[in-house]
Amino acid sequence: MPKVTFLPGGESVEIDGETTIREAAHLVEVSVHDRCGGMGACCNCIVTVLEGLENIGPKSVVEEAVFYLSPEDRLSCQCRITGDVTVKTI
Ligand code: FES
Repeated sequence: MPKVTFLPGGESVEIDGETTIREAAHLVEVSVHDRCGGMGACCNCIVTVLEGLENIGPKSVVEEAVFYLSPEDRLSCQCRITGDVTVKTI
């Protein structure tokens, strides 16, 4: 099962492909500032992908609309992973 590791704390959790990074963060009690509850409306749940960007699907329509996201920045409520990733929370 794919593993998500959160920095700077180093928490990690194995998840299945139906779990978002936001949901993975909740499993290990890491805050991703998900103020809209994962609805894709607040754009506050940004994580920076440090490793494994190739293991995350393409950006969603919501993510593409957020002009200030770098290629490595993702909305944690919008992305599901297919392999191991390491992300940094802000
Ligand atoms: S939780 Fe609001 S956009 Fe992700």
